[in-house]
Amino acid sequence: MAEILVTRALPSDILRPLLARGGVEVWEGEGPIRREVLLSSVGSSLGVLSMLTDSIDAELLEAAPRLMVVSQMAAGVDNIDLDACARRRVRVGHTPGVLTETVADTAFALMASIVRRLPEGKRLVEEGRWGSWSPFEGLGGDLHGLILGIVGMGGVGRAVARRASGFEMRVIYTTPRAVEGSPGQAVTLDELLATADVVMLCAPLTEETRGMIGVAQLEAMRPISYLVNVARGQLVDTDALMEALGSGSIAGAALDVIEPEPLPPDHPILSLPNCLVTPHIASASVSTRRAMAQMAVDNLIAGLDGTEMPAERRPGG
Ligand code: DGY
Repeated sequence: MAEILVTRALPSDILRPLLARGGVEVWEGEGPIRREVLLSSVGSSLGVLSMLTDSIDAELLEAAPRLMVVSQMAAGVDNIDLDACARRRVRVGHTPGVLTETVADTAFALMASIVRRLPEGKRLVEEGRWGSWSPFEGLGGDLHGLILGIVGMGGVGRAVARRASGFEMRVIYTTPRAVEGSPGQAVTLDELLATADVVMLCAPLTEETRGMIGVAQLEAMRPISYLVNVARGQLVDTDALMEALGSGSIAGAALDVIEPEPLPPDHPILSLPNCLVTPHIASASVSTRRAMAQMAVDNLIAGLDGTEMPAERRPGG
């Protein structure tokens, strides 16, 4: 059994310094490493380079008595039991920062697509329903001048807010901690839901944010407002959202993340014309995914060597 387990194939040039240390096993199978393979592979592992699809919980830690470091190739660590890792003195690394601008680009693209009704236009063309140019059919909203409500003013939230100023939007936001010099105005979640034309979820998944957008919050939004989610699907009650989209109590939604993931192709939300779902690709640019993989390798090597990690995540941090 290997001392270092990498749970997904990564570019070989990025893995090279890790492979040079020897004792490395890389899961080369299709998709995420299966749970039973993960549990049976970590028995002698000192380090695991994990993905957000791997659950790093008490059971895994039990199966990995020698584990010193978990290095996750993602900014979010909601799949990792940080308290259990801290109790076991297992250090945890992650990859914040390097994906911020790319996720903000995608958030903006999702917002533009749904507000300007691009998915509906695409479907209309593909289905042969493009008649003559029409003065008052298929009209959407404007991006410029809208009120953007950002839930979670971390790095991604602030990067979205910077882009919004170029579109002459007004930014309002909620955040659990005061943020120095953020563009926009801090408000309560209730104010944000009642005021924003677009509610943009950029908050991490925690016990406080899980299910934060449910029936009551969707009812508090206006029929002309949109929901965009680039955070985690579990922030939103999918059934309640479907109901709100179907009844017209909100205008539309663009979701890069959704509960469940992967979404089955026959899921009823996909039949709603005012909903755009993409497959958790907000950070998926060539250079950003390489930067994330590089940072995950650097974190892992630092953790194994007992030196400072480029980005270490502690409970509550
Ligand atoms: C993250 O890093 O947490 C994203 O969801 C995947 O890029």
